[in-house]
Amino acid sequence: MAYETIEVKPLAGALGAEVGGVKLTKVQDNRTWDEINRAFLDHKVLVFRDQGLSPDDIMAVGGRFGEPTYYPFVTGMEGYPYIFEVIKEPSETRNFGGGWHSDTTYLQKPPLATLLYAVETPNAGGDTVFANTTAAYDALSDGMKTLIAPLKGIYSAGLKRSGGRANIHRQVGAMKIQNAEQADTYEAIHPIARTHPGTGRKALYVSKGHTIRIEGMTEDESRPLIDYLADHSTRLEFTCRVRWEPGTLTVWDNRCTQHNAINDYHGQRRRMRRLTVGAQVPA
Ligand SMILES: [Fe+2]
Repeated sequence: MAYETIEVKPLAGALGAEVGGVKLTKVQDNRTWDEINRAFLDHKVLVFRDQGLSPDDIMAVGGRFGEPTYYPFVTGMEGYPYIFEVIKEPSETRNFGGGWHSDTTYLQKPPLATLLYAVETPNAGGDTVFANTTAAYDALSDGMKTLIAPLKGIYSAGLKRSGGRANIHRQVGAMKIQNAEQADTYEAIHPIARTHPGTGRKALYVSKGHTIRIEGMTEDESRPLIDYLADHSTRLEFTCRVRWEPGTLTVWDNRCTQHNAINDYHGQRRRMRRLTVGAQVPA
């Protein structure tokens, strides 16, 4: 079905679209929001350029997708506890959000959507790559789909395979990190292949960073399958790439995508604002 109130231009074959013809702070009518929400389900990653959003505006736009949720490991902005700043200083080499993942899968109810708004961006670099995990699921053999259908994964915030969350977060010095020593206590069990409540489609829900094992199996037994499904999910033909500039807002669907922040801009500053919304139990 065509769009009447917005312009939707796909970013790649697999997923992602730039949405034009709309200033989010000015959209009052439900018809436009209905079309934005339809585009969100169709394309999974929506990019809005030149938006000029204040933190209040980000909260208002986020509210169109779901209720705000807290991020456990970074303190929110003054007066905006749900929004936090993702910052990499010119002097730093570690970035936040590197490595393929869906956001906070270690919570019982992970947020359905993340909004990321660019405030300061490097001249080049700092793009984010997204992967369509529904397309990845569809591309599996019937045998693999049957094998993983009953499987649940254990999702942990500990980031043990990358040296531990506290150790990693110590290296992103400009950010207001909190609670990282408790990361191991954040654990949840979810289906390896989840069903999207808006589309009825299945999507892989596995990452090397968060999925530590399959329920009922050891970590060693689980790892080959986790690694295979994670690598498969992020094959190039399932991806799109978003280039940022100040004023760009990207909204992505955590239920059927993964993302990876590319760390290729040492010596330059990048500052973003992030909000997650719509706590939902993966099923
Ligand atoms: Fe993320």
